[in-house]
Amino acid sequence: MATIDTLIDAAKIQERVAEMGREISKDYAGKEVVFIPVLKGSFIFAADLIRHIEGVTTSIDFLGLRSYGDGTETSGVVQITSDLTKSIEGKHVIIVEDIVDTGLTMEYLLDNMKTRQPATMKVASLLHKPARTRIKIDIDYLGFTIDDVFVIGYGLDYAQNYRNLPYLGVLNPDG
Ligand code: PRP
Repeated sequence: MATIDTLIDAAKIQERVAEMGREISKDYAGKEVVFIPVLKGSFIFAADLIRHIEGVTTSIDFLGLRSYGDGTETSGVVQITSDLTKSIEGKHVIIVEDIVDTGLTMEYLLDNMKTRQPATMKVASLLHKPARTRIKIDIDYLGFTIDDVFVIGYGLDYAQNYRNLPYLGVLNPDG
């Protein structure tokens, strides 16, 4: 039976996400920002992050993307499963991701969003796995850099399971 090793516990995640929120609040003080969480993986991170935004006029719009199948490897094919509901032209935008792994998804996304002409666009990602980089992405707000392990929990899945865990863990299939 599979077991799960804790990689980053809930308290440490909360502490780091609060810091990220404070940094964003400082950088955008008095401005308006549209947060764009990329579904599904970032929904928990985004929900926690925006609760730490203060002094910024904050709106949120979701983008549904899917770059992996149900396996653990990127397919290289990115699908938009649900698009933004409003124009981001002239807006300050922060894309919120759970993980930048190969960078293929984010490259696709940044190219796509640029054509919509936001005033500025930055990237907030909870995790980055540099060992797997295929396309280098500048992550403006980064939670944690991790080793090349398959991470689950806090929004991240394996075959759509485990998103509910309050911590980040690594699945050991053999236990
Ligand atoms: C994950 C993650 C990123 C992408 C990163 O999404 O949320 O969008 O993979 O991988 P990359 O840098 O190698 O492109 P996934 O396709 O697993 O969908 P999900 O967010 O719905 O779980």
